[in-house]
Amino acid sequence: MHVLTVLDHPDPASFSKAIALAFNDGAISAGHTTEFADLHAERFDPRWSLADIEADKLGKVPADIKFEQDRIARADAVAFVFPLFWWGMPAMTKGWVDRVWSWGWAYDQLDDPEVSLQRPRTGVLLVPAGARSDEMDEQGYTSALETAWINGTFGYFGFAKRELVLLNGATGSSTRRQALLERAKIVGAGLSLPVA
Ligand SMILES: Cc1cc2nc3c(=O)[nH]c(=O)nc-3n(C[C@H](O)[C@H](O)[C@H](O)COP(=O)(O)O)c2cc1C
Repeated sequence: MHVLTVLDHPDPASFSKAIALAFNDGAISAGHTTEFADLHAERFDPRWSLADIEADKLGKVPADIKFEQDRIARADAVAFVFPLFWWGMPAMTKGWVDRVWSWGWAYDQLDDPEVSLQRPRTGVLLVPAGARSDEMDEQGYTSALETAWINGTFGYFGFAKRELVLLNGATGSSTRRQALLERAKIVGAGLSLPVA
């Protein structure tokens, strides 16, 4: 299968980038073809703008959005890699989602929020987080993110197989980080298509 990894981090030496590469290595080791979208390096503009709205009214798709939609169209699986910021997505990923996975292309809200216009895909979130997992579970953050991203967003995207991999303790020791990198590689190697 073909795997698109979408990375959101401005620092090429970041842990998030290392996670994305480890995941990608795992996917390659399992025989998948891969493609990388490095949103900061590619200078994607995450701002939803008046130009977007006006293009939509004319039934047109801005060139930068078409470019992103074409990469998604080629992919059987999409992986998101971004650091957890304020219990949510950083602005770059949020804007990519807002602008690219648009109404009329990804989903049609008027029919059924859970019926995407897209073919079934596998969707994975690999999210480095500073907090500990027990802390996040106890305070309800883990279930809030599962609800918003797995039940909500990924449903609209038509992801028939959905996984949130929280990489807790990402700012911890090098041993901890190594274990998280291994985990990302295993997730990449274990990817499979949704069962029809
Ligand atoms: C603006 C900002 C907000 C953050 N918010 C959270 C948060 O809500 N929960 C959390 O566990 N970690 C939070 N962190 C910690 C990051 O998730 C952590 O630094 C990151 O995963 C490390 O990966 P990196 O080296 O690739 O940046 C935040 C960090 C920054 C800079």
